[in-house]
Amino acid sequence: MALAIGNWSALNAMPGMDEAEFARWAELLERRTGVVVPPARKPFLVTAVRGRMRETGHTRFDDYYRDLHKMPEGAIEWTTLVDRLTVHETHFFRHQPSFDLIANEWLPRVAQSGSQTALHAWSVGCSTGEEAFTLAMVLDKHVSAIRDARIYFGVTATDVSHPALAVGRGALYPRSKLNEIPAEYRERYVDELDADSFSIRESLRKRVGFAQFNLLDVARAPLKRLDLIFCQNVLIYFARDRRRELLDSLAGLLKPGGMLVLGAGEVISFAHPQLSRVPHRQALAFLRNR
Ligand SMILES: C[S@@+](CC[C@H](N)C(=O)[O-])C[C@H]1O[C@@H](n2cnc3c(N)ncnc32)[C@H](O)[C@@H]1O
Repeated sequence: MALAIGNWSALNAMPGMDEAEFARWAELLERRTGVVVPPARKPFLVTAVRGRMRETGHTRFDDYYRDLHKMPEGAIEWTTLVDRLTVHETHFFRHQPSFDLIANEWLPRVAQSGSQTALHAWSVGCSTGEEAFTLAMVLDKHVSAIRDARIYFGVTATDVSHPALAVGRGALYPRSKLNEIPAEYRERYVDELDADSFSIRESLRKRVGFAQFNLLDVARAPLKRLDLIFCQNVLIYFARDRRRELLDSLAGLLKPGGMLVLGAGEVISFAHPQLSRVPHRQALAFLRNR
């Protein structure tokens, strides 16, 4: 697909998107990622598709849609477009009560059981990595504080977006994000590089592995017997029925005693025969029955 960056005459010629065209693009995105774009978010979708059409030199939605279905170029183009069509907003320590639950309640219980030597956590829909690195910081700090505990841990961080994953792998963030990280964690896990940026310290980076994975493929996930699944601000973009199906699959990937942490308020009245709701006022979490 030829790039025509700065093709301003093409920009001026960009057509509007009628409802049928919008439905077609929204259906494509939902079929391939599960993400639903409601009519109120049409301007977001139109801006994203048009922006990419401008870069690839397309002036008609039709032509771009057809080219997206050509193999193999269309598949390559899709990896760029899907990044534009999904929301990547994220923060370090985004939902503090969820991390407190892991550090103060779940982890001590796991360590007490004595049988645990390795913990495997999964950040589902990790975006640019902040959530995965937060999990790693919390696990590292609190595991090392447990006397006599010899627990190794690793975090798998997955997302559908390749560009987002590339940021996570680079572990380099703008300084404006530094104050999202509490001071006691900053000292241990962050290297302040210059006036503009900081990086995650190598000792922590090596605990986090990034991989592209589409949550719609969860039934075929290569991950099994997980201790911790962290899935926040992803399912909210999915249709309600789909959320339940995916949650059922996630539940099946937990080992007994493992915990599934969701975004507070993201799913209402979810229940699963092998999961028990963790009583907590601010966090939404479920334990896999032993
Ligand atoms: C708003 S971010 C949430 C990031 C992080 N979990 C948090 O709470 O801060 C949502 C992420 O979900 C990813 N996503 C959307 N659909 C997905 C899918 N089908 N499979 C995997 N990731 C997906 C997007 O690419 C995006 O990075």
